[in-house]
Amino acid sequence: MIPSSLRVQLGERSYDIAVNSKDLVGVGRFARERVNGTSALIIADTNVLAHAKIVESSLSQDGFRVGLAVRPSGEAQKSLDVAKDLYDRLLDLPADRRTLVVAVGGGVIGDLAGFVAATYARGLPLLMAPTTLLAMVDSSIGGKVAVNHPRAKNMIGVFHQPIGVWIDTSTLATLPEREYRSGLAEVVKYGVVLDPVLFEYLEKHSSDILRREPAAVGHIVRRCCELKARVVEQDERDESGSRAVLNYGHTFAHAFEAAAGYGAWLHGEAVAAGMVCASRLAERRGLVPAEVSERQIRLLRAFGLPVSIEPWPIDQLLDAMRADKKSLGGKMRYILPRRLGAVALFDDIPEAEARAVLTDVRGAS
Ligand code: NAD
Ligand code: GLY
Repeated sequence: MIPSSLRVQLGERSYDIAVNSKDLVGVGRFARERVNGTSALIIADTNVLAHAKIVESSLSQDGFRVGLAVRPSGEAQKSLDVAKDLYDRLLDLPADRRTLVVAVGGGVIGDLAGFVAATYARGLPLLMAPTTLLAMVDSSIGGKVAVNHPRAKNMIGVFHQPIGVWIDTSTLATLPEREYRSGLAEVVKYGVVLDPVLFEYLEKHSSDILRREPAAVGHIVRRCCELKARVVEQDERDESGSRAVLNYGHTFAHAFEAAAGYGAWLHGEAVAAGMVCASRLAERRGLVPAEVSERQIRLLRAFGLPVSIEPWPIDQLLDAMRADKKSLGGKMRYILPRRLGAVALFDDIPEAEARAVLTDVRGAS
């Protein structure tokens, strides 16, 4: 049984992740138990305004003087210009050094609000209330916060752990289908990288998960949070290589997102095809039998995710992979499966093998 309240153990930066269904109003009490400030700024986007309003009234009832900053949705919000507008909102509030910043939304809002919280007055407390599946299972946990440089995604950022994560899975009811399925790619990733039992659960319960059946959704969200918490505890600042396992499929995925034109493929869609490439590469290296790739492909297909790529020029994809921030000294680094539930980092794969895999996956349908 996975506990519904999980703790990320990071010494004085430890925090709880509370997972519930239909208890967004509980967020005020959760915040009040963790901070003694008197004011809060909620940062949200227009698509989650209804959820943000509930958070606003809950925080008010628990004694916070609350400001609400609502931004348009989209990756373009992760910019220094938008951060500056939010610093203005904090000045207007007026904020003090105990003002709580509350992110209500997906990974874009979480990264942006987190960056603002980390940098205003040398750091304000941050509470994450994620509303996309991706943000629930990944971006709201672990303290990576950033905005984009016009030429490089997530390039301006720091580590700033939240003081708590409040997950109400019922907020997923309003999430568009494509966004939900895209988040499922990251859930599949956790299974391949760390947990064969989770992988089997996904195979067995794929239709319940697609129907967003609350018990199934609660189960996968809690398990992924637990897995992410353990990874972050081992390697908070992404230095030892343990946290890098979460990048399974991502070297390929970033190249696909760039080739498609940012936004045309959602991140999770690119990760799905990226995992297929990484698994096929592992097969070529004799690390796993074909069945490991076939099971991933069947599951990703069941979730309506892409398992092949468009006819993008392979040289362009390889250029993008070499430029990825995970490559070191121009050498590509890959996280490859050794079996379902275990992966390892490789930096000695000949480029010709990546080229061969890309060619195969481009031709597959
Ligand atoms: P997103 O934040 O853009 O949300 C996707 C879309 O869904 C947006 O249009 C949003 O307005 C809408 N939305 C969100 N919740 C909704 C809801 N409950 N109902 C209706 N609409 C809703 O995208 P995302 O996939 O959540 O996050 C992607 C971002 O996360 C990227 O910027 C990526 O770099 C970042 N990220 C960060 C980390 C990290 O560790 N910090 C990890 C992974 C991804
Ligand atoms: N999403 C990858 C990480 O948090 O390290």
